[in-house]
Amino acid sequence: MNLREEISKLISISLSDLGLNSTDVAVVFSNRPQLCDFQCNQAMILAKQLNTNPNELAQKIVSNIKKTDDFEFFVANPGFINVKVTFKALSKYCNFVAKDKNYGIEQVKKPRLIFFDYGGANVAKELHVGHLRSPIVGEALKRLHISMGDKTLADVHLGDYGLQMGLTVLQLKIDGYLDEFFKKNAKIDCLELKNVTLDVLNDEYPKASKRKDEDAKFKKLADDFTLFIQQKKEPYFTIYNKIKALSIKEIQKNYELLNCGFDYYFGESDAQPYINSTVQIFVDKGLARESEGALVVDVAQEGEHEPIPKKSEDEPQRYKNPMPPAIIKKYNGGDLYATTDIATIVMRNRDFVPDEIVYVTDNRQCTHFKQVFRCCKKAGISPEGQKLTHIAFGTMNGKDGKPFKTRSGGVVRLKDVVGLLIDKANEKLVSNGIVGDSELARKIGVGAMKFGDLSNTIEKDYVFDIDKFLSFDGKTGPYIQYTIARINSILAKSNFKNGQINIQTDSERNIALMIAKLSSSYMLCYNAYSLNSLCLAAFDLASAFSTLYSNQKILSMTDEKAQQSLLSLCLLVKNCLSKALWTLGIDTVEKM
Ligand code: ARG
Repeated sequence: MNLREEISKLISISLSDLGLNSTDVAVVFSNRPQLCDFQCNQAMILAKQLNTNPNELAQKIVSNIKKTDDFEFFVANPGFINVKVTFKALSKYCNFVAKDKNYGIEQVKKPRLIFFDYGGANVAKELHVGHLRSPIVGEALKRLHISMGDKTLADVHLGDYGLQMGLTVLQLKIDGYLDEFFKKNAKIDCLELKNVTLDVLNDEYPKASKRKDEDAKFKKLADDFTLFIQQKKEPYFTIYNKIKALSIKEIQKNYELLNCGFDYYFGESDAQPYINSTVQIFVDKGLARESEGALVVDVAQEGEHEPIPKKSEDEPQRYKNPMPPAIIKKYNGGDLYATTDIATIVMRNRDFVPDEIVYVTDNRQCTHFKQVFRCCKKAGISPEGQKLTHIAFGTMNGKDGKPFKTRSGGVVRLKDVVGLLIDKANEKLVSNGIVGDSELARKIGVGAMKFGDLSNTIEKDYVFDIDKFLSFDGKTGPYIQYTIARINSILAKSNFKNGQINIQTDSERNIALMIAKLSSSYMLCYNAYSLNSLCLAAFDLASAFSTLYSNQKILSMTDEKAQQSLLSLCLLVKNCLSKALWTLGIDTVEKM
């Protein structure tokens, strides 16, 4: 049962009876709730096409609508068809949602398999604040698809195949951590990485990364080490795998703090066996050409990458709408990020053949993914009908509007952001008389950040304002969690026996409408690859409940039937809000 759809159907039937165009009748939630619940501007669109009076046409359509005791239709100037849902229909709707295993959320007509690539952690490099949005947005988009009936798979796509491998191993060797491994006749299989802890790794990589920029000999050695690892040469290869295992454990812990779960911890290295054959596909199909010793694929479309005439000979060539060719093999034979991503699609299509692959990264990678996707389509690596989608997010800024930094200007570690959220949430809990529940503080703190993030438009930058995010009222995660906790406490104190819902007052009917709005926000989000309408609708439902709560002392009601109906409505609000939070990747809490 879908109120909006039913209204749209009734209007459509009336239109086709009158011989008018009855397709695409859009019915939306009213933006003037005092006046009506839903509205439709089809009569205005048609009147314009037919060059007639919109109000009169709307009247004609409305008087031709089949009588029903679910909806009242009426006309407002200049030709809106307004709709009020009756108490009876709202009661019916609520009882339907209460029984529906999907809480009234519209399901996709044909479930698809969607493969999500998000997270993007790199081995041996500590996760920092720049890694926050990908798991937050990626996990929520994945869950949105699950909530609507799609099948999903998620791969963290570890960065485990670059120079960082050589740099880290080299630095550990210099600092004396690997002596046993490099001894003559060392039994490598039996050795452990002694004294190499995560803290050590977290120091070693940045140290090496800095030195490579200042010391050419060191950089050359790191390149050699990287090559040795890629060639599986010992002891380099074993050392690196041990570092990787240690690093993955830490990465997993970080993602768990954020409620992110991946089906696969594949990495860039898993695509390496497919690289040569992938490059060969482009050569065989005549899609690759040589350019300054490298192998490139042209991907620019009409109107893109047009040379801008130079003003002088020595000026570098610039382009309008730049879309440079994708480089698939470097001049020295090395492989590139693009080649790895293309080969990964080859692998994913061999193993899973998803209907869509969705990548979630920051917006600096837009050109990269355009190049990769176009290459795959050109070469037939991605079959026709397979959708390749890049969701590019903006930066998370500090209150000064600049990318979030530590006080001394350094990169903020992801762990520290979460730590800060937990501390702040804890302060709030203590002031509410709840002491020493750090898991509760994590659920609230992380939930606050996720809601703050997801209620923004994904592609835009946003300001990380921890005090605003953590406010217990307002458009925040904790406000929704608090509403659920409040309902839990009401239900626990009552003698609730789940029964029929009978909508009787205006605040109850508003709740029913907000439940309908929340259910239909899923499809809006689905179509837009975004979650902000879901956040907003969850907030609207929570505040509708809050109005009821302050108007009606539920626990002291004397009319038992009315009280039971209201308690059932409370439970429904709780379930719908919990489902919304689950979809956003946010925990619910019993109390707060
Ligand atoms: N590891 C990459 C980074 O840190 C992100 C990976 C994104 N996914 C992909 N398939 N390229 O920037």
